[in-house]
Amino acid sequence: MTLLTDRYKRSIDYLRVSITDHCNLHCIYCMPLGGAPKLEHKEILSYEEFLRIIQVALKMGISKVRLTGGEPLVRRGVSDFCRRLAKLPGLKSLSLTTNGVLLEELASELHGAGIRRINISLDTLQRQKFLRITRRDEFDRVWRGIQEAERVGFDPVKINVVVMRGINDDEVLELARLTLNYPYHIRFIEFMKINSDDDWVDQHYVSADEILAKLSTVAPLEQVVYQNTNGPARHFVWPDAVGMIGIISPISHHFCPTCNRIRLTADGKLRSCLFSDQELDIKSHIRQGATDAGLAQILKDSIANKPEKHSIQSDLFRKCQSRPMVAIGG
Ligand code: GTP
Ligand code: 5AD
Ligand code: SF4
Repeated sequence: MTLLTDRYKRSIDYLRVSITDHCNLHCIYCMPLGGAPKLEHKEILSYEEFLRIIQVALKMGISKVRLTGGEPLVRRGVSDFCRRLAKLPGLKSLSLTTNGVLLEELASELHGAGIRRINISLDTLQRQKFLRITRRDEFDRVWRGIQEAERVGFDPVKINVVVMRGINDDEVLELARLTLNYPYHIRFIEFMKINSDDDWVDQHYVSADEILAKLSTVAPLEQVVYQNTNGPARHFVWPDAVGMIGIISPISHHFCPTCNRIRLTADGKLRSCLFSDQELDIKSHIRQGATDAGLAQILKDSIANKPEKHSIQSDLFRKCQSRPMVAIGG
């Protein structure tokens, strides 16, 4: 097995796979008002097609796979798919990012299927605010889903909070205080502009430094090394906490120089950077009978074309608008 590296000498070992663009929430930072156009069933890769592409990627040096959406748990048969995926040779880490709505029902079978790490989005602890942010009244189900995930043995349970000024920035301390009583990683994420109204995002953006300053008013934060995932989060703890605080700062301290990932979208496009619309179509090749070597070449081409860094502030970025976040999977 070779080590996959791009032309900036970054090792690429992580594939994020969006198994559906459908979602049972409509978060304001992810889904355009009125919803996003949904893919038809025949446009979405089948589980067999996903398995074939992932198998090829694993032989080439990918070793971590994260399933995303839309919301991955709305796709029927997801646990069986995970069970088959978990058995593929070369897979060292299989994880999932979910909004938690269906987790109370599915956590146990997902764990049994071989998923060990789970990231759950939760931006508020208030039911009314949850409704405002996600446009759906599902707070109670998500909270029960988080607790069920912990109960069945997911370790760690990571909670993703997109911080938005005037919407949930007043809850940063309360959310962080969860780490005093629960072994969760509470991860505060800077709000990213993807296919959404520029001014609206700018008005609501809160920097990681501002979040850290707020957290430090409660007790000194100790930065700790948590290397288990090689992900973009920096980690901190408060004294006596049982959980951890994570800070993900794609805007103010972008992590492009150490980026280790590419993405496969539900409609079978390889996307080498979250922020770049450069995509390679792997679906048409698989459906026209490409060999494994042919698929491997497309993966190599995608990695070869991976941009050096995102250019959120540039005109180029303003043109990167082909998909809303819900159709990429974060
Ligand atoms: P871990 O493996 O647990 O560290 O997961 P992760 O942080 O890679 O994944 P998750 O799906 O929980 O994403 C957390 C946040 O990081 C989301 O807001 C993602 O949109 C963002 N994110 C993930 N990958 C990238 C990336 O390559 N670039 C940027 N800018 N943001 C990313
Ligand atoms: N900015 C930052 N994070 C986002 N996510 C979705 N949209 C955005 C955005 N505009 C996060 C969700 C989810 C993860 C996959 O991506 O919170 O946890
Ligand atoms: Fe919200 Fe995730 Fe659904 Fe986007 S994909 S609308 S962030 S739950």
